[in-house]
Amino acid sequence: MRYLPIDQIQEGMYLARNVIGNDGRVLLVKGTKLTQSYLQKLKELDYHFLYISETPDDIEEFKGPLSDEVYTKAICTVRDSMISAAKYQSLDLQAVIDVADFMLDEVIAEDVVYNIIELKNHSNYTYLHSVNVSVLSVLLGKALKLNQRQLKEMVTGALLHDIGKVFIENSILEKAGRLTPPEYEKVKRHPQYGFDLLRGHPELSLLSAHVAYQHHERADGSGYPRGLTGDQIHYYAKIVMVADSFDAMTSGRHYREAMWSHTAIAELKAAAPEKYDPKVVSALTQVVALYPVGSVVLLNNMEVATVCDVTSKKIRLKLLSGKNKGQRIELSHNSKLKIERRLS
Ligand SMILES: [Fe+2]
Repeated sequence: MRYLPIDQIQEGMYLARNVIGNDGRVLLVKGTKLTQSYLQKLKELDYHFLYISETPDDIEEFKGPLSDEVYTKAICTVRDSMISAAKYQSLDLQAVIDVADFMLDEVIAEDVVYNIIELKNHSNYTYLHSVNVSVLSVLLGKALKLNQRQLKEMVTGALLHDIGKVFIENSILEKAGRLTPPEYEKVKRHPQYGFDLLRGHPELSLLSAHVAYQHHERADGSGYPRGLTGDQIHYYAKIVMVADSFDAMTSGRHYREAMWSHTAIAELKAAAPEKYDPKVVSALTQVVALYPVGSVVLLNNMEVATVCDVTSKKIRLKLLSGKNKGQRIELSHNSKLKIERRLS
């Protein structure tokens, strides 16, 4: 399985992971043999990368931090909440709280790392982003020893952190070029809109609403909407803002290329402590896979391999070159063998 830019994918290759459409459901199922028309359609839908495999028997079960079932449920729940909010209908926050519980049950498991490189397009971006930020926030919160109640309050807020965006015009949110200063001023209102919406719901902890309110604040006061500093910012928001920035940096948008995990972590480290809580940023290195599943890597023996599976303790590779081409190896069992760098 490899994660490839769509322009490098040829007809006849197989889809190795489901492609999720803008309603959170599966648009194209894994195992599908890709035709020119599928590829064209996916390009039109603004997908830039796919997980592919050369042969159908090479498609493995992808073990991410969440099962496909809970991942899809979470995306649909975020989407339903945002649609209700946009129509000024009441929110089914109990559904969000339930999803937070399902997520906690799965993400809390031992060994799990954040190994998603996500297949977002412009229409499902906010939903997938909200769920990915939530997953990463739980992993960070767990590494930082938050208790179960705290994790739940934080992840419920993380799922809804961008809900205020529904009150901002799509033409601004999806604009391909740079925003003008008045447009940026409008975007900067979404945390306030989100907070105003969520604070009126007694079933939601006020701290969860504050995650939406504070996720764009920065420790040095340079954030928005209020320019809070240091410990004026709640710990949950300090965690979620790191997950939010990391996911935004590692996701390709039409106006910029996606960064690789290690570059994004290095940039976030350079920006802390002025902007971010250094403890949270350093927890990123514990919970994020530097080489996510599907990435192609160069080994110190100059062979090329693709990452099949990764946990906090081991990384499993499939060799793509050399005399053992096609073989699977576990890196922890081969102490002399090291990953030199990521190729794609
Ligand atoms: Fe946001």
